[in-house]
Amino acid sequence: MVSFKELGLVNTREMFKKAINGGYAIPAFNFNNMEQMQAIIKACAETKSPVILQVSSGARKYANQTLLRYMAQGAVEYAKELGWENPQIALHLDHGNSFELCKSCVDYGFSSVMIDGSALPYEENIELTKKVVEYAHRYDVTVEAELGVLAGVEDEVQAEESHYTKPEEVIDFATRTGCDSLAISIGTSHGAYKFTPEQCTVDPATGRLVPPPLAFDILDAIMEKLPGFPIVLHGSSSVPQEYVDIINTYGGKMPNAVGIPEDQLRKAAKSAVCKINIDSDSRLAFTAAVRKVLAENPGEFDPRKYCGPARDEMERLYKHKIIEVLGSDGKAE
Ligand code: G3H
Ligand code: 13P
Ligand code: ZN
Repeated sequence: MVSFKELGLVNTREMFKKAINGGYAIPAFNFNNMEQMQAIIKACAETKSPVILQVSSGARKYANQTLLRYMAQGAVEYAKELGWENPQIALHLDHGNSFELCKSCVDYGFSSVMIDGSALPYEENIELTKKVVEYAHRYDVTVEAELGVLAGVEDEVQAEESHYTKPEEVIDFATRTGCDSLAISIGTSHGAYKFTPEQCTVDPATGRLVPPPLAFDILDAIMEKLPGFPIVLHGSSSVPQEYVDIINTYGGKMPNAVGIPEDQLRKAAKSAVCKINIDSDSRLAFTAAVRKVLAENPGEFDPRKYCGPARDEMERLYKHKIIEVLGSDGKAE
């Protein structure tokens, strides 16, 4: 058993309280490798933004849970080395799908876990979430739950279509489970293809797809039922078209990739939405940079020569999200 406190990490409780009161959101960036972790920490250290480092069960399998934990511990030290005196870094399990997985993460030094019972019938979601909360809270680890289903792939949980969160269920769910935050479904979804072209309109000036707006009426109704309760948005990549264009120019094939417009996320960040999950945008930044370098330098075979520019591009992306979209810069001085 390792406590997250020994690793220099923090849970999400204070982070969320300050974010709701301050009208901004904490970035939750997924990481799977050293370059992503370096880029996240550099961006956060430079902007003094609190951050949630997220690990999916896929990332755990890919990178090894022990390595990821030591990377998170290393992230705290790296942040200090970069001159960030008071790093506010949480290590969070993204889309945990069983009590055993959540327990293992708590025991391994995670400061926050998500139990995603959103695909289960309502009462089973409550039962599972409650069990995770009871265990995690013994160690001061905070718990995110999910109510409502996002379309797309949620790691090992898949759904063909989304089912918006029902505002009439949230009080009962939050009270009976004791969860610390709630992920809701209001029109976001995972991955780089969040809407079909049929669901979008076309901007006549650019010819780009314009997605339908998020269901802010549902968010408002949820906030009315649970005033001041931390709300989480998954599937919040905006799928920057400049990355999609670079990928397509240099041998990729990502037609009709479309995400959530950043102005919608900025609006959400000013409300009780205090955690915004971004993974796909970082994948796009990485892939665009790697494709460009390799296409322009076909003889290159030193991974540092293409992973380096990919890391720089991700750092730019993270800073942009922190400053221009979430507003979390300067909130962890
Ligand atoms: O919600 C899904 C995250 O983007 C993690 O994706 O399961 O492929 O690591 P992954
Ligand atoms: P995106 O695929 O939109 O980046 O969402 C990531 C996410 O929700 C991780 O849990
Ligand atoms: Zn997610």
